[in-house]
Amino acid sequence: MAEILAVGEAMERALALLEGGDVVAIPTETVYGLAADATNGVAVARIFEAKGRPRFNPLIAHVADLAMAGRIADFDPLSAKLAETFWPGPLTLVLQQRAENGIHPLVTAGLDTIALRMPRGFGGELIARLGRPLAAPSANSSGRISATTAEAVAADLGERIRLVVDGGATPVGLESTIVKIEDGKLWLLRPGGIAAREIEAVAGVKMMRGAAGIQAPGMLASHYAPGAAMRLNVGKIASGEALLAFGRDRAEGWQDAVAVRNLSEAGDLREAATNLFAYMQALDRSGAATIAVEPIPQDGLGEAINDRLARAAAPRDKIASAP
Ligand code: TXA
Ligand code: MG
Repeated sequence: MAEILAVGEAMERALALLEGGDVVAIPTETVYGLAADATNGVAVARIFEAKGRPRFNPLIAHVADLAMAGRIADFDPLSAKLAETFWPGPLTLVLQQRAENGIHPLVTAGLDTIALRMPRGFGGELIARLGRPLAAPSANSSGRISATTAEAVAADLGERIRLVVDGGATPVGLESTIVKIEDGKLWLLRPGGIAAREIEAVAGVKMMRGAAGIQAPGMLASHYAPGAAMRLNVGKIASGEALLAFGRDRAEGWQDAVAVRNLSEAGDLREAATNLFAYMQALDRSGAATIAVEPIPQDGLGEAINDRLARAAAPRDKIASAP
């Protein structure tokens, strides 16, 4: 079973494991990541193995600072502006890789582009100490809900990894927003922890959506799935369902729900994002066959929340069956 160490006491142990080509689960401001040295192919392969990912999808490389990022990828002026504004933070930029950047091709699944992000807190310090970028997908089994606490990581991956660094509940609670600038256009590849309109405000241009042909596991129709079925935009609870609520107004029949969690009583989408994965897990554990979800507004972080809910509700036949 994985050892769980608090951030204050985990640095040396985490460094030793990463130097030795092993994986370590670390807190970031978005969700927990399963990290490995991005320049070490064997270490990166261990990430896929531990997650049970069905195929080699490209991972995000996490950097400590702009200098490290600049050695890995070429920044167009708009990407540079977004990095300077939002890093460290929940923004991932897809950029052209530089030649001989040391990144193992398994990280990028052989693409000539790379997804880069600078995380806040422990992750950033760890990368600076290691002196090399860390590849890190969310620290959960493939297709399952992303972990926002060390306990959730240990419950899911604890048998397969040696260390979980405990930084408490992750403040954002949703994965990073992924954007790509192509031919001067700004594409939203994955809504996430920074609302699209915040990025648009800095960029001065509108975001394009629905990019064709860009494959991302977060873009598989069924992803982030709990064991229970999900029913969205529910106005009335059916018998035996658990309820994922939002705001002050309850769906009809809510008193009969097997279990209830409210993402945000106050209707605050930021608070809802923080609670989303943990509450989905809690309702899943209630044993209900179906989790009914009240409507969530689509503005701000609501876009990312609804994206994750839609994937969690999608038919499961496309993913490996749940453990
Ligand atoms: O907040 C986050 O982003 C978390 C934390 C741990 O940093 N990480 C995360 O990683 O969500 P992961 O592997 O679960 O999702 C990475 C996403 C995938 O959808 C992947 O396909 C996409 O980034 N991606 C990676 N490289 C890409 C590329 N070159 N072009 C387009 N998409 C890419
Ligand atoms: Mg993930």
